[in-house]
Amino acid sequence: MRIKARSTPNIALIKYWGNRNNELRLPRADSLSITLDAPTIEVEIESAEDFSVQSFDASGIEKPQSEKSIARLRAHYELTKTYLTSLRVADTLPAYLHLVIRSRIPQAIGIASSAAVFSCLAEAYAGFLSLPLTREQISVLARLGSGSAARSVLGGFVALENIAGDDIGSARARQIAPEHHWILHDIILVPSQKEKKVGSTEGHAMAATSPFFEERLRQIPRRMNECIDAITRKDFEKLQRVSEEDTLDMHRCMRTQNPPLDYLSDETHRIIRGIEAFRGKEKLEVLYTMDAGPTVHLFCTDAARKTVEEYAETQKNCMIFKAKGGGGSRLIPACR
Ligand code: PMV
Repeated sequence: MRIKARSTPNIALIKYWGNRNNELRLPRADSLSITLDAPTIEVEIESAEDFSVQSFDASGIEKPQSEKSIARLRAHYELTKTYLTSLRVADTLPAYLHLVIRSRIPQAIGIASSAAVFSCLAEAYAGFLSLPLTREQISVLARLGSGSAARSVLGGFVALENIAGDDIGSARARQIAPEHHWILHDIILVPSQKEKKVGSTEGHAMAATSPFFEERLRQIPRRMNECIDAITRKDFEKLQRVSEEDTLDMHRCMRTQNPPLDYLSDETHRIIRGIEAFRGKEKLEVLYTMDAGPTVHLFCTDAARKTVEEYAETQKNCMIFKAKGGGGSRLIPACR
């Protein structure tokens, strides 16, 4: 049997940073994001004699994965089997798989592909089972590869929430609102093409060494409530205030943890200052947010989109990508 699935990245408005269990990727705090409609990743899986991976980039050229990435994919499959065994539905899963990963995420976009890859794999693994899993259970599978991937299993505005307990299923995604509830566009400004040196897996593990981390954890429940309220009421000003507060707070934690992680570049700061000055002059529904890299995501409403795109085009030495809210991971049924 061959299973094919498709998924996309998501961008957090309330960021996930730091785990209570690094191996199981159980977060210390809840987070919330928008699932994007592009760019896509597709995976195809079939049973094999051994665990093997083939991957292709946006132009269809084969790009072999590093030893480290293959080890992470293999570890994810082992954790998947452990979780599915605990649910008593692992019997139809093959011992080994051949994975083919086709990414349409341009290398330079500055969006980590891990959320799209692991949500896509979770979808495909669930497709192998004789009994259907719930969307929440599929989000747990995705989380075992990359915490933020849990959120790409659902469409629109999605929270990754901790639930009671410390077992493998104790954090899962929940949809706050579907993508058509409120159309928000993401105008993505990519100032640098440098590969980041320290990935988020290593970064999460050291988050608690920041003197600001405990205070961050105290603030997250309030921020989550405000963010959910802003989304429910489509209150852009509130969404802007709380999400910008959170992204700046996460980057302060990153910069002050040991060893320090300074993902933002001079260009990032210049773009942020520019958008703040621009917003000061005319009331524009646009907010900025940054993940583990210098890329700036400018989320805006339909009404503000044209002006934000024009602003983005005036930025020198930046690549621009465009996306909007999307529907999350899916099986591609024709290939079953
Ligand atoms: O899922 P990970 O381990 O790649 O962590 C993602 C961390 C951030 O992108 C910085 C924040 C987030 O919530 O997506």
